[in-house]
Amino acid sequence: MTTRRDFLSKGALTAAGIGIARSEAYADEQRATQNLTPDRVKQLKPPAKPVIVTRVTGDQTVQEAYRMLLDGQDTLDAVHHVCLGRENDPRDHSVGLGGLPNEDGIVELDSCCMHGPSRRAGSVAGVRNIRNVCLVARKVFEHTSHVMLAGPGAENFAADLGFPRENLLTEDARKMWMLWKEGHSQMDWWGPGMADPAWKDPYADHPTPQPTMDLHGLASTGPGLSPGLSPGAIPRHPTPEWRQLIAMRTRKLTEMAADLGIEPEKRLAAVEQVLWPTTGTVHVSAVNTKGEMSGATTTSGLAWKLAGRIGDSPILGAGSFTDQDVGSAGATGTGEENIKVAGAHTIVELMRQGYSPKDAGMETLRRIVRNYNGEMNKVRYLDMEYYIVRKDGAYAGCSLWSTGATGHPREFVVHDGELRVEKCSALLEGSMTEWPPL
Ligand code: GLY
Repeated sequence: MTTRRDFLSKGALTAAGIGIARSEAYADEQRATQNLTPDRVKQLKPPAKPVIVTRVTGDQTVQEAYRMLLDGQDTLDAVHHVCLGRENDPRDHSVGLGGLPNEDGIVELDSCCMHGPSRRAGSVAGVRNIRNVCLVARKVFEHTSHVMLAGPGAENFAADLGFPRENLLTEDARKMWMLWKEGHSQMDWWGPGMADPAWKDPYADHPTPQPTMDLHGLASTGPGLSPGLSPGAIPRHPTPEWRQLIAMRTRKLTEMAADLGIEPEKRLAAVEQVLWPTTGTVHVSAVNTKGEMSGATTTSGLAWKLAGRIGDSPILGAGSFTDQDVGSAGATGTGEENIKVAGAHTIVELMRQGYSPKDAGMETLRRIVRNYNGEMNKVRYLDMEYYIVRKDGAYAGCSLWSTGATGHPREFVVHDGELRVEKCSALLEGSMTEWPPL
């Protein structure tokens, strides 16, 4: 079965005929993993070539953004160029036009950005009817003394500045939403969350493989001192009964998708969005040869979310954070968990202390696991991916899980003169169990 993430990482790439070279190794493993003293971090020199890190986009925007950096254009213009490509693509159901809506069928977008050289930041949350929210987030700091605008205020601000109002719910996304409504189970996001003592594991009857985990490692004392987790392989779907249930639900939803007029080639993707709503998002961080950095994140957030739900993407310090002295980082994944560890800020602060990009990302992932005391019957429902670049161009992509739903490795895109897809460094072996459960 192909998930949206896998579709974007494989199908769209192939369809676009981009031919990105896959590389199993880090281009500069040494720099990505080497820890430094804080004094050494202060003395880091800019990279010889610009570096961009992001997710697989399935278009040409990363190459174009790289060209912009080579031509001396601003790093924030370059990262926004990649974000705009996704916001303008109605086939990308995780962002902008064509993003999947909230439970009321309304698309609500979140975005934030930070411009390293000027140390300015802007953010918008829960914006309806405006497609290019990444640019609206920028306008917040260009036109006001505020940092964050939300809801109708943000929409009106954008409209006042000339951003067109439009219906962001494409016909494809509307039909997926209809399918979700019609195929809707009792499960939603209203019940107690996993952090609530009253939370009950819907798979409690199923075995939860427990990784051997040194909990002391979840609160490490310095770079390189934190022992890694030693997880066992965690099967995605615990039982044959589960697989049977999925097959049955998929069949039923596929029939319903046909009744709703969803074209045959789009039915499976629609069913998957109903079964396992994504928190697909785009984060882009970049550094140029002057050492100037910027980062931006844009998203339509969790599909079928409660109206008004805000994830990590517009939260500066969670979805994105850039410090001109150190580096830039951002996230895609379960926004709620990333907010609780201030993910992007934590990564940058750890790099300031001397953690390598990879260790900073892994330590932040450990904090997400720590928030659940390492209880794998909860952690298995979480997802997180970090994109990290340091001031000297050292970079890393880190993920909570090693694979996506199909067993395909978690990947990120880097361009440092050569565009390639690399495997993320993963904290846990296996793939998440999708939420909500059936
Ligand atoms: N990471 C995107 C979201 O949770 O909204």
